[in-house]
Amino acid sequence: MNLLITGGAGFIGSHVVRLFVKAYSDYNIYNLDKLSYAGNLENIKDIEKAKNYTFIKGDITDKAFLTEIFRKYNFDAIIHLAAESHVDRSIENPLAFVETNIIGTINLLEQCRKNWNNDRKKHLFYHISTDEVYGSLGEKGLFEETTSYKPNSPYSASKASSDHFVRAYGETYKIPYIITNCSNNYGANQFPEKLIPLFINNIINNKSLPVYGDGKYTRDWLYVEDHARAIDIVFHNGKNKETYNIGGFNEWQNIALIKLLCKLMDQKLGRNEGTSSQLITYITDRPGHDRRYAIDANKIYSELGWKPSVTFEDGLSKTIDWYLDNQEWLVNITSGAYKEYYNKMYLKK
Ligand code: NAD
Ligand code: DAU
Repeated sequence: MNLLITGGAGFIGSHVVRLFVKAYSDYNIYNLDKLSYAGNLENIKDIEKAKNYTFIKGDITDKAFLTEIFRKYNFDAIIHLAAESHVDRSIENPLAFVETNIIGTINLLEQCRKNWNNDRKKHLFYHISTDEVYGSLGEKGLFEETTSYKPNSPYSASKASSDHFVRAYGETYKIPYIITNCSNNYGANQFPEKLIPLFINNIINNKSLPVYGDGKYTRDWLYVEDHARAIDIVFHNGKNKETYNIGGFNEWQNIALIKLLCKLMDQKLGRNEGTSSQLITYITDRPGHDRRYAIDANKIYSELGWKPSVTFEDGLSKTIDWYLDNQEWLVNITSGAYKEYYNKMYLKK
């Protein structure tokens, strides 16, 4: 099996690459990543010398480059994670999301169309998507696989569009495909623009914790290694043309999560209880901010036997420990371009 994983130097991708490289010594695993600001080879340093692993630096918006590597490596299957992934950045620069998330995905699908026959036993285009494509929930209800799409940000609109193209190529050209829509991930190696690592980093550095709007927005959190395990199970046992929602029935209002994070950080840093929560600062809301996400994961639980293995309390504690033990990683990536982004986003408000 020649397996292409895109975006494997990013947050979720690095956990997926590690899992596959370690579990499947008989697969040739190719990690294609452009190494954008969010891609970091440090994330997968521990497996870079593995015999079954090859890193390919490149951009999925570059058609000629994709033609060349498909010819060279003859990929059998693709797990596609490469994307622009941060909602706030999509509000600043939507076109970058159109280019990578929509055009980049179509470029990969075009290669599958040209190079593959229609046999699911041999081939699969596995598209990693998000629950954000479904839009926002009211106080009740859950996103099901049949919930209609209603994306509200340029990011989620670009992901929704890419999902539609994957399905369309599956129907029209019979490319075997599966789509999974997952809830918010957290864990080691997440870029500190996303809520949990941003706030851990700010607490370490005694910087304010910028809470958007009233803080009563709800997200459904899943430990990243549980997501990677789900991807493994879906890749091997998922059915052609199916969609699976991935989540752990773990909803948290932002402000409740932030207060728990502050409490754990005080304990771990040996600070008096209440120290970190004094850094909480309510700021202008994100435009188009979705009020609530919550996944109904019953289909993957019952059909594929996956469920999360890590409780939120344990996962959050492990995550904080990882960032505290890897402060050099944080310092390295929060210099340069990140500083400019941070100043632009937060210091103006
Ligand atoms: P990330 O931003 O941490 O990583 C994305 C990776 O893609 C980076 O390594 C980057 O260098 C690479 N990349 C970006 N543009 C590229 C291009 N044009 N060509 C090649 N590589 C490129 O993202 P993440 O949080 O790990 O998310 C991975 C995937 O999972 C995305 O498709 C995202 O939509 C989806 N997802 C994320 C979450 C979450 O909570 N983070 C939840 C559900 C789904
Ligand atoms: O639901 C899955 C999605 O989760 C993924 O598809 C995205 O790639 C991923 O970025 C994430 O999107 P969110 O917008 O939910 O994640 P983020 O960490 O940016 O924000 C989480 C919540 O915290 C959200 O309600 C906005 C709020 N927030 C975020 C930041 C960065 C703040 O209040 N302050 C902040 O500074």
